Amino acid sequence: MKKIVALMLSPRSLGNCEILVKEICRHVPDKHELLLIRLTDKEIKPCKACYACLVNGVCPLEDDFTSIAETLASADALLIASPTYFMGANGILKVFLDRCLQLYPAPFSLRGKPVINLVTAGLMGEAGYSEMMLNSFSLIMGLKLKASEVFYGALPGEIFLDNDEQLKRAAALGDLLFSDHERDFASWACPLCGSDVIQLLGKDRIQCVVCRNYGQISQNGEKVELAVGINPENIFFTEEQFSRHGIWLQDMKARFMRLRRKLAVLTGAYASQGKWF
Ligand SMILES: Cc1cc2nc3c(=O)[nH]c(=O)nc-3n(C[C@H](O)[C@H](O)[C@H](O)COP(=O)(O)O)c2cc1C
Repeated sequence: MKKIVALMLSPRSLGNCEILVKEICRHVPDKHELLLIRLTDKEIKPCKACYACLVNGVCPLEDDFTSIAETLASADALLIASPTYFMGANGILKVFLDRCLQLYPAPFSLRGKPVINLVTAGLMGEAGYSEMMLNSFSLIMGLKLKASEVFYGALPGEIFLDNDEQLKRAAALGDLLFSDHERDFASWACPLCGSDVIQLLGKDRIQCVVCRNYGQISQNGEKVELAVGINPENIFFTEEQFSRHGIWLQDMKARFMRLRRKLAVLTGAYASQGKWF
């Protein structure tokens, strides 16, 4: 029996995210159990940047983070579903992601787990950067992104109200979750991670906003073409880069011990300025 864990970023019970995830699971051919985590009902405190987790492996904040991370790690596959709020995904995802710093030294990881990212939005074309936020989260966590899609509907349940097209897309995603099918990239998307959010750096240079790899843009007749190569300085794209960044973070402790007196003098000069509200 497979275990699907759904990270739900909508506070709405039986809203679009919830029925979407459940509809997709109705089409997963493998026998499975579905476990849903409504992140907005949990207590996730913001990271305090104390770096204690990197030093002794323990985060001093007491809340639901660890049990959620362990539950995600116990899954065979993940579904992440977020409503669009003012062009982005629900901010609770970022609060959760920032706490994932403590997963560097953790004995478990999410690396390689299949995931489907789902965004709901009330207005056609107004999902903004929500999908990018979910895809960036998945890349940083080392998840294997099988698909990422936006579904439109404002009222709870409306994504499937007289909408066969969206019902069919949900069914296809269910088929895909445990299949060997590799993600299809649009011809205009980043050839390395599939993101269609590209930053223009001037002249013909570009950087993929999700995977942070560099490339070039060129015009071939009517077609725009992107050539992108792995940026050796990248900290999240490959497993090796991710581990290298973990070592850099560990080394930061020694650097801090070496520089802390100098830094205290520098920052101390700003201490009495301004009033805190
Ligand atoms: C605070 C707030 C902001 C929203 N901002 C957007 C938006 O920028 N673009 C959009 O298309 N829909 C927006 N919506 C609509 C929701 O994304 C939409 O209703 C979605 O289907 C909700 O999913 P849910 O039922 O799973 O919560 C917003 C809704 C709320 C409550």
